[in-house]
Amino acid sequence: MSALKNALLLSHEYIKKVLKEGNTAVDATCGNGHDTLFLSEIVGRSGRVFAFDIQENAIESTRARLFEYNAPDNTTLILDGHEHMNQHITGMVRAVMFNFGYLPGGDHQKATQTETSIAAVRSAMHLLSSGGIITLCIYSGGDTGFSERDGLLAFCKSIDPNEFFVLSHEFINQENNPPILVCIEKK
Ligand SMILES: C[S@@+](CC[C@H](N)C(=O)[O-])C[C@H]1O[C@@H](n2cnc3c(N)ncnc32)[C@H](O)[C@@H]1O
Repeated sequence: MSALKNALLLSHEYIKKVLKEGNTAVDATCGNGHDTLFLSEIVGRSGRVFAFDIQENAIESTRARLFEYNAPDNTTLILDGHEHMNQHITGMVRAVMFNFGYLPGGDHQKATQTETSIAAVRSAMHLLSSGGIITLCIYSGGDTGFSERDGLLAFCKSIDPNEFFVLSHEFINQENNPPILVCIEKK
């Protein structure tokens, strides 16, 4: 067991630092609802979570997880692509989590796609309040290939340094392309 944290664990650490009770957060890829539950518990009854997925079974799986863990009644589940996030959310958000790729145990064809992923990150950047954070957990290799990773990283490198800090975390000597975490913080 390594003392170094993987992309998912690190994303949770960063989110816990900036997201507080009463804030608004977004799970841009709710899947089986692990991150939605995590966000819901942090923001509590006085906060709000918006959770997106394009698959009905992901939305239902998230609904079931929130129920099972008796989550606060603070989450809006949205069956739509995250690239349309700004049509569903008004007001500023403190944190947005993206966990790209496909639903574990689900249809690998219904994975996130480079173009819509970048459009969604752009939308999230507009909705983010000052000091707020976006986490991108980016997978590559296998079925996923490398084009989404490469497209997202190229986009992230082009983000205006006067407006945002962008930090990438990556294991650089491990096999099987471990996920990369990119954090975008609004100044
Ligand atoms: C790796 S899974 C997310 C896992 C999830 N965070 C969890 O805790 O279980 C990626 C999810 O992104 C969803 N997805 C694919 N394209 C999407 C899009 N354009 N907008 C929103 N979700 C999308 C997939 O349906 C899949 O459920």
